[in-house]
Amino acid sequence: MDYLQINGGKKLNGTVTISGAKNAALPVIAATILSDSPVKLTNLPNVVDIRTLLKLLTMLGGKVVHEGTVATIDNGSITSHKAVYEIVAQMRASILVLGPLLARFGECEVSLPGGCAIGQRPIDLHLKALESMGASIEIKGGYVHAVAPEGGLKGAKIIFDKITVGGTENTLMAAALAHGTTTILNAAKEPEIVQLCVMLASAGVSIEGIGTSELTIEGTGGKPLTFPQTEIIPDRIEAGTYLCAGAITNSEITLNKVDVEHIRASIDKLESMGFDFTIDGDTITIHPAEEIKPVNIITVEYPGFPTDMQAQFMAVAAIAKGESLIEERLFENRFMHVSELNRLGADIWLKGSTAAVKGVEKLYGADVMATDLRASSALVLAGLVAEGTTNVRRIYHLDRGYDDLEGKLAALGADIIRKREQK
Ligand code: EPZ
Repeated sequence: MDYLQINGGKKLNGTVTISGAKNAALPVIAATILSDSPVKLTNLPNVVDIRTLLKLLTMLGGKVVHEGTVATIDNGSITSHKAVYEIVAQMRASILVLGPLLARFGECEVSLPGGCAIGQRPIDLHLKALESMGASIEIKGGYVHAVAPEGGLKGAKIIFDKITVGGTENTLMAAALAHGTTTILNAAKEPEIVQLCVMLASAGVSIEGIGTSELTIEGTGGKPLTFPQTEIIPDRIEAGTYLCAGAITNSEITLNKVDVEHIRASIDKLESMGFDFTIDGDTITIHPAEEIKPVNIITVEYPGFPTDMQAQFMAVAAIAKGESLIEERLFENRFMHVSELNRLGADIWLKGSTAAVKGVEKLYGADVMATDLRASSALVLAGLVAEGTTNVRRIYHLDRGYDDLEGKLAALGADIIRKREQK
């Protein structure tokens, strides 16, 4: 197994280019199931989750040509409608094929994703929405078996009890091929949802309310879509993570190919911690702070502060001058990094869904274990300032969602190297 070895204490400088967004690319790839003709996607990040979903499509019978950041996907040849456990267990976002498979083929089976390191993560809201559109759903043998009504899914009025990114995406994709109008109330409005809406609209699906919490979709009545070439938006969480790399090392670094509007919440918090920014189009530079101040954070849905940035900010708060409070409201178990950060000398005390982070003078290198994707990046960030050597193990979590993290950090001047465990 690979691990990352970091010798902390180096200042960073230079420019890093942000990759396409994993969480935008996944639903976009799933949406290609709504088409029976080839779709070209560009600016895909080079991460394991993308390869996993493309593999799932080939297992269903789709044809995929994937090289670098570009993939051409032809789902005209899909013959199987079953997403097997082996793939879904590797990546719970595989559930995103449920809506499009059901909408296009009228029937499908998708393995039920289990819980994960950050919480239970049920899919009840996805299923309820599809049932409102007339689907019969049965859970048997660990699989969701969904069957559309005679003639196909029907438009419906769907009110989500809770804002759900994946649930909104599955419903949008199902609604695109349904008969009639679907209205989604309390829809998620993350940039990744906007990308999916824009992609569906580019194939002629009428969608009102893009970027708001009320979406109205006119389905094609079962007619497959033809998509023009689609470019994946920049990864706002990767961008936020590099801003935190600049912050924790108190360095000046520049990020290219960023959508600054998508990272406003992170910029605001870093400003309150004492950092300044220069913004020029899709380029942003973080300037060092005189003193890193503590911060109070509550994770909420977009445009609020993202749960996917909570762990990275906790790493920065760990060396701030004073006490920070960080409350996690989206996932019940997204604090696995706390004990690992404490192994590096952080002083973090957890009570319920809030972490009290007392800033310390110094972190010290140690062996730590990655527990989920963003927790892993927080440990890498902490390793960048920790005195001595930090080994971050179980980095397969990182590889799922960060495109060449160690290469990009090394190019900025970090002393970081990927190593293989000697057995
Ligand atoms: C997406 O997960 C992201 N994943 C997550 O990023 C991100 O943390 C999350 O949205 C929140 O922003 C992808 O886009 C692939 P949700 P998703 O449905 O869609 C509850 C990362 O690190 N809920 O918006 O699964 C759920 O348990 C990942 O890149 C239900 O109760 O998140 C959670 O508490 C991790 N029932 C809340 O809603 C449901 O049917 C929000 O989850 C669905 C969700």
